Amino acid sequence: MAETRLILGDCLIELRKLKTESVDLIYADPPYNLSGESNLTVHSGKPVKLDKGEWDKIENLHEFNINWIRECIRILKPHGTIWISGTLHNHPSVGMALKQLDLWIINDIVWYKPNATPLLSRNRLVPSTELIWLASKNKNYYFDYNLAKKMNKGKQMRNLWILNAKRHITPHPTEKPEELLERIILLGSKEGDTIFDPFMGSGTTGVVAKRCNRNFIGIENNPQYFLWAKERVNNEEEKNIDFSNFKKVEKQIRIPFSEKSR
Ligand SMILES: C[S@@+](CC[C@H](N)C(=O)[O-])C[C@H]1O[C@@H](n2cnc3c(N)ncnc32)[C@H](O)[C@@H]1O
Repeated sequence: MAETRLILGDCLIELRKLKTESVDLIYADPPYNLSGESNLTVHSGKPVKLDKGEWDKIENLHEFNINWIRECIRILKPHGTIWISGTLHNHPSVGMALKQLDLWIINDIVWYKPNATPLLSRNRLVPSTELIWLASKNKNYYFDYNLAKKMNKGKQMRNLWILNAKRHITPHPTEKPEELLERIILLGSKEGDTIFDPFMGSGTTGVVAKRCNRNFIGIENNPQYFLWAKERVNNEEEKNIDFSNFKKVEKQIRIPFSEKSR
Protein backbone atom coordinates (compact mmCIF):
# COMPACT_ATOMS: atom_id res chain seq x y z
CA MET A 1 0.00 0.00 0.00
CA ALA A 2 1.32 3.44 -0.95
CA GLU A 3 2.32 5.72 1.93
CA THR A 4 1.67 9.44 2.02
CA ARG A 5 3.45 11.98 4.22
CA LEU A 6 2.31 15.61 4.18
CA ILE A 7 4.45 18.17 6.00
CA LEU A 8 3.36 21.68 6.99
CA GLY A 9 6.44 23.92 6.97
CA ASP A 10 9.14 25.74 5.04
CA CYS A 11 10.72 23.37 2.54
CA LEU A 12 14.14 25.01 3.07
CA ILE A 13 13.98 23.75 6.67
CA GLU A 14 11.93 20.56 6.32
CA LEU A 15 13.97 19.24 3.39
CA ARG A 16 17.03 19.04 5.65
CA LYS A 17 15.21 16.48 7.81
CA LEU A 18 14.61 14.07 4.91
CA LYS A 19 16.95 11.14 4.29
CA THR A 20 19.70 11.38 1.66
CA GLU A 21 18.92 9.43 -1.56
CA SER A 22 15.42 8.46 -0.41
CA VAL A 23 13.10 9.60 -3.24
CA ASP A 24 12.76 8.45 -6.87
CA LEU A 25 11.14 11.44 -8.55
CA ILE A 26 10.81 15.10 -7.59
CA TYR A 27 8.21 17.38 -9.11
CA ALA A 28 8.56 21.02 -8.06
CA ASP A 29 6.23 23.87 -8.94
CA PRO A 30 8.05 26.66 -7.09
CA PRO A 31 7.06 30.33 -6.79
CA TYR A 32 7.55 31.80 -10.28
CA ASN A 33 8.05 35.33 -8.91
CA LEU A 34 5.55 36.69 -11.44
CA SER A 35 3.37 38.59 -8.96
CA GLY A 36 4.09 42.30 -8.65
CA GLU A 37 3.39 45.86 -9.61
CA SER A 38 4.28 45.67 -13.28
CA ASN A 39 2.61 42.39 -14.24
CA LEU A 40 -1.04 42.47 -15.27
CA THR A 41 -3.64 39.79 -15.94
CA VAL A 42 -7.33 39.73 -16.89
CA HIS A 43 -10.11 39.25 -14.35
CA SER A 44 -13.80 39.51 -15.36
CA GLY A 45 -12.68 41.16 -18.59
CA LYS A 46 -10.66 43.88 -16.78
CA PRO A 47 -6.90 44.32 -16.36
CA VAL A 48 -5.81 43.72 -12.75
CA LYS A 49 -2.43 43.47 -11.02
CA LEU A 50 -1.16 39.89 -11.17
CA ASP A 51 -0.94 38.77 -7.55
CA LYS A 52 -0.81 35.09 -6.64
CA GLY A 53 0.04 35.90 -3.03
CA GLU A 54 3.00 36.94 -0.85
CA TRP A 55 4.53 33.49 -1.36
CA ASP A 56 5.11 34.38 -5.03
CA LYS A 57 7.38 37.36 -4.22
CA ILE A 58 10.94 36.16 -3.69
CA GLU A 59 13.64 38.71 -2.95
CA ASN A 60 16.72 36.84 -4.11
CA LEU A 61 15.24 34.37 -6.57
CA HIS A 62 18.46 32.72 -7.68
CA GLU A 63 19.78 32.15 -4.18
CA PHE A 64 16.37 30.70 -3.22
CA ASN A 65 16.39 28.37 -6.24
CA ILE A 66 19.93 27.17 -5.60
CA ASN A 67 19.10 26.43 -1.95
CA TRP A 68 15.99 24.31 -2.46
CA ILE A 69 17.28 22.54 -5.58
CA ARG A 70 20.53 21.62 -3.79
CA GLU A 71 18.60 19.99 -0.93
CA CYS A 72 16.27 18.21 -3.39
CA ILE A 73 19.25 16.73 -5.17
CA ARG A 74 20.63 15.43 -1.88
CA ILE A 75 17.44 13.42 -1.21
CA LEU A 76 17.10 12.20 -4.83
CA LYS A 77 18.23 8.59 -5.50
CA PRO A 78 21.08 8.21 -8.04
CA HIS A 79 18.71 7.07 -10.85
CA GLY A 80 15.99 9.59 -9.99
CA THR A 81 14.83 12.64 -11.93
CA ILE A 82 13.74 16.15 -11.00
CA TRP A 83 11.03 17.96 -12.97
CA ILE A 84 10.66 21.73 -12.36
CA SER A 85 7.82 23.89 -13.69
CA GLY A 86 8.09 27.58 -14.47
CA THR A 87 7.71 30.47 -16.86
CA LEU A 88 10.13 33.05 -18.20
CA HIS A 89 10.02 34.71 -14.75
CA ASN A 90 12.00 31.94 -13.03
CA HIS A 91 13.21 29.64 -15.76
CA PRO A 92 16.54 31.30 -16.56
CA SER A 93 17.44 31.06 -12.87
CA VAL A 94 16.29 27.42 -12.55
CA GLY A 95 18.24 26.40 -15.66
CA MET A 96 21.34 28.18 -14.38
CA ALA A 97 20.94 26.55 -10.95
CA LEU A 98 20.72 23.08 -12.53
CA LYS A 99 23.99 23.76 -14.39
CA GLN A 100 25.70 25.24 -11.33
CA LEU A 101 24.71 22.18 -9.29
CA ASP A 102 26.23 19.92 -11.96
CA LEU A 103 23.01 18.23 -13.01
CA TRP A 104 22.37 16.54 -16.33
CA ILE A 105 19.61 18.41 -18.18
CA ILE A 106 17.56 15.82 -20.07
CA ASN A 107 14.75 17.89 -21.57
CA ASP A 108 13.04 21.22 -21.51
CA ILE A 109 9.38 20.34 -21.93
CA VAL A 110 7.07 23.02 -23.27
CA TRP A 111 3.53 22.79 -21.94
CA TYR A 112 1.30 24.61 -24.43
CA LYS A 113 -2.15 25.68 -23.16
CA PRO A 114 -4.42 26.26 -26.18
CA ASN A 115 -7.02 27.84 -23.86
CA ALA A 116 -4.62 30.31 -22.18
CA THR A 117 -6.14 33.57 -20.84
CA PRO A 118 -6.25 36.20 -23.62
CA LEU A 119 -4.23 39.40 -23.36
CA LEU A 120 -5.75 42.88 -22.96
CA SER A 121 -2.58 44.86 -23.63
CA ARG A 122 -1.46 45.05 -27.25
CA ASN A 123 2.25 45.09 -26.63
CA ARG A 124 3.22 41.40 -26.64
CA LEU A 125 2.27 37.85 -27.59
CA VAL A 126 -0.23 35.95 -25.44
CA PRO A 127 1.70 33.92 -22.85
CA SER A 128 0.39 30.37 -23.40
CA THR A 129 3.25 28.11 -22.39
CA GLU A 130 5.05 26.92 -19.31
CA LEU A 131 8.38 25.16 -19.28
CA ILE A 132 9.32 22.05 -17.35
CA TRP A 133 13.02 21.36 -16.84
CA LEU A 134 13.78 17.63 -16.58
CA ALA A 135 17.17 16.81 -15.04
CA SER A 136 19.03 13.99 -13.31
CA LYS A 137 22.21 13.37 -11.33
CA ASN A 138 23.84 11.41 -14.18
CA LYS A 139 23.05 9.93 -17.58
CA ASN A 140 21.79 6.69 -16.04
CA TYR A 141 18.30 7.73 -14.99
CA TYR A 142 14.87 6.09 -15.01
CA PHE A 143 12.53 7.09 -17.86
CA ASP A 144 9.74 4.93 -19.35
CA TYR A 145 10.30 5.56 -23.05
CA ASN A 146 7.95 2.76 -24.13
CA LEU A 147 5.07 4.09 -22.07
CA ALA A 148 5.67 7.57 -23.50
CA LYS A 149 5.29 6.06 -26.97
CA LYS A 150 2.14 4.19 -25.95
CA MET A 151 0.64 7.35 -24.52
CA ASN A 152 1.34 9.01 -27.88
CA LYS A 153 -0.48 6.39 -29.98
CA GLY A 154 2.71 4.50 -30.88
CA LYS A 155 4.76 7.55 -31.95
CA GLN A 156 7.77 8.98 -30.08
CA MET A 157 6.56 11.55 -27.60
CA ARG A 158 7.92 15.04 -28.24
CA ASN A 159 8.81 17.72 -25.72
CA LEU A 160 5.76 19.78 -26.69
CA TRP A 161 2.81 18.83 -24.50
CA ILE A 162 -0.53 20.26 -25.56
CA LEU A 163 -2.85 20.25 -22.56
CA ASN A 164 -5.61 22.68 -21.73
CA ALA A 165 -5.48 24.55 -18.44
CA LYS A 166 -8.26 23.09 -16.29
CA ARG A 167 -10.90 24.54 -13.97
CA HIS A 168 -9.38 24.34 -10.49
CA ILE A 169 -10.57 21.67 -8.06
CA THR A 170 -9.54 23.76 -5.02
CA PRO A 171 -9.39 27.57 -4.57
CA HIS A 172 -5.55 27.49 -4.79
CA PRO A 173 -4.47 30.18 -7.33
CA THR A 174 -1.93 28.05 -9.21
CA GLU A 175 -3.29 24.51 -9.10
CA LYS A 176 -1.79 22.34 -11.85
CA PRO A 177 -3.94 20.02 -14.01
CA GLU A 178 -3.86 16.42 -12.81
CA GLU A 179 -3.25 15.31 -16.40
CA LEU A 180 0.14 17.06 -16.40
CA LEU A 181 1.20 15.25 -13.23
CA GLU A 182 -0.06 11.94 -14.59
CA ARG A 183 2.36 12.20 -17.49
CA ILE A 184 5.29 13.16 -15.31
CA ILE A 185 4.70 10.50 -12.65
CA LEU A 186 3.96 7.68 -15.08
CA LEU A 187 6.97 8.44 -17.29
CA GLY A 188 9.45 9.08 -14.49
CA SER A 189 8.62 6.43 -11.86
CA LYS A 190 7.39 2.90 -11.20
CA GLU A 191 4.64 1.61 -8.90
CA GLY A 192 5.88 1.65 -5.30
CA ASP A 193 8.39 4.45 -5.97
CA THR A 194 8.46 7.59 -3.82
CA ILE A 195 7.47 10.96 -5.31
CA PHE A 196 8.44 14.21 -3.58
CA ASP A 197 7.00 17.73 -3.99
CA PRO A 198 8.61 20.58 -1.98
CA PHE A 199 5.90 23.14 -2.99
CA MET A 200 2.80 21.00 -2.67
CA GLY A 201 0.17 23.78 -2.95
CA SER A 202 -3.27 22.17 -3.28
CA GLY A 203 -1.79 18.66 -3.40
CA THR A 204 -2.10 17.80 -7.12
CA THR A 205 1.16 15.79 -7.12
CA GLY A 206 0.07 13.85 -4.03
CA VAL A 207 -3.35 13.01 -5.46
CA VAL A 208 -1.90 11.67 -8.71
CA ALA A 209 0.94 9.81 -6.92
CA LYS A 210 -1.57 8.03 -4.71
CA ARG A 211 -3.84 7.24 -7.65
CA CYS A 212 -0.87 5.73 -9.47
CA ASN A 213 0.19 3.63 -6.43
CA ARG A 214 3.31 5.65 -5.62
CA ASN A 215 4.40 6.79 -2.15
CA PHE A 216 4.32 10.54 -1.68
CA ILE A 217 6.04 13.16 0.48
CA GLY A 218 4.88 16.77 0.15
CA ILE A 219 5.75 20.05 1.88
CA GLU A 220 3.62 23.22 1.97
CA ASN A 221 4.14 26.23 4.22
CA ASN A 222 0.72 27.89 3.91
CA PRO A 223 -1.66 26.38 6.52
CA GLN A 224 -4.80 26.91 4.41
CA TYR A 225 -3.26 25.40 1.28
CA PHE A 226 -1.93 22.57 3.43
CA LEU A 227 -5.47 21.77 4.66
CA TRP A 228 -6.84 21.73 1.12
CA ALA A 229 -4.03 19.42 0.04
CA LYS A 230 -4.55 17.13 3.01
CA GLU A 231 -8.27 16.79 2.36
CA ARG A 232 -7.74 16.25 -1.33
CA VAL A 233 -5.00 13.63 -0.93
CA ASN A 234 -6.87 11.82 1.85
CA ASN A 235 -9.98 11.63 -0.36
CA GLU A 236 -8.04 10.05 -3.19
CA GLU A 237 -8.00 6.28 -3.51
CA GLU A 238 -5.29 4.00 -4.80
CA LYS A 239 -6.39 2.26 -7.95
CA ASN A 240 -5.38 -1.06 -9.34
CA ILE A 241 -4.68 0.10 -12.88
CA ASP A 242 -2.40 -1.64 -15.34
CA PHE A 243 -0.39 1.36 -16.50
CA SER A 244 1.54 -0.69 -19.05
CA ASN A 245 -1.66 -0.51 -21.13
CA PHE A 246 -1.99 3.21 -20.68
CA LYS A 247 -5.47 4.64 -20.73
CA LYS A 248 -6.18 8.17 -19.59
CA VAL A 249 -6.29 7.79 -15.84
CA GLU A 250 -8.07 11.09 -15.32
CA LYS A 251 -11.09 10.02 -17.34
CA GLN A 252 -11.44 6.82 -15.31
CA ILE A 253 -11.31 8.26 -11.82
CA ARG A 254 -12.61 11.58 -10.68
CA ILE A 255 -13.14 12.41 -7.03
CA PRO A 256 -14.69 15.85 -6.58
CA PHE A 257 -13.20 18.18 -4.02
CA SER A 258 -15.67 18.69 -1.16
CA GLU A 259 -17.81 21.79 -1.54
CA LYS A 260 -17.35 22.82 2.10
CA SER A 261 -13.72 23.88 1.57
CA ARG A 262 -14.44 26.35 -1.22
C1 LIG B 1 3.11 27.29 -7.59
S1 LIG B 1 2.38 26.79 -6.10
C2 LIG B 1 2.22 25.03 -6.24
C3 LIG B 1 0.89 24.60 -6.79
C4 LIG B 1 0.73 23.09 -6.87
N1 LIG B 1 1.56 22.52 -7.91
C5 LIG B 1 -0.71 22.69 -7.11
O1 LIG B 1 -1.00 21.99 -8.09
O2 LIG B 1 -1.55 23.11 -6.33
C6 LIG B 1 3.71 26.98 -4.98
C7 LIG B 1 3.35 26.66 -3.56
O3 LIG B 1 4.56 26.71 -2.77
C8 LIG B 1 4.24 27.22 -1.50
N2 LIG B 1 5.52 27.73 -0.95
C9 LIG B 1 6.17 28.87 -1.27
N3 LIG B 1 7.33 28.96 -0.61
C10 LIG B 1 7.43 27.82 0.14
C11 LIG B 1 8.41 27.32 1.04
N4 LIG B 1 9.52 27.99 1.30
N5 LIG B 1 8.19 26.10 1.62
C12 LIG B 1 7.05 25.40 1.36
N6 LIG B 1 6.08 25.83 0.52
C13 LIG B 1 6.27 27.02 -0.08
C14 LIG B 1 3.18 28.27 -1.75
O4 LIG B 1 2.39 28.51 -0.61
C15 LIG B 1 2.38 27.64 -2.89
O5 LIG B 1 1.27 26.94 -2.42
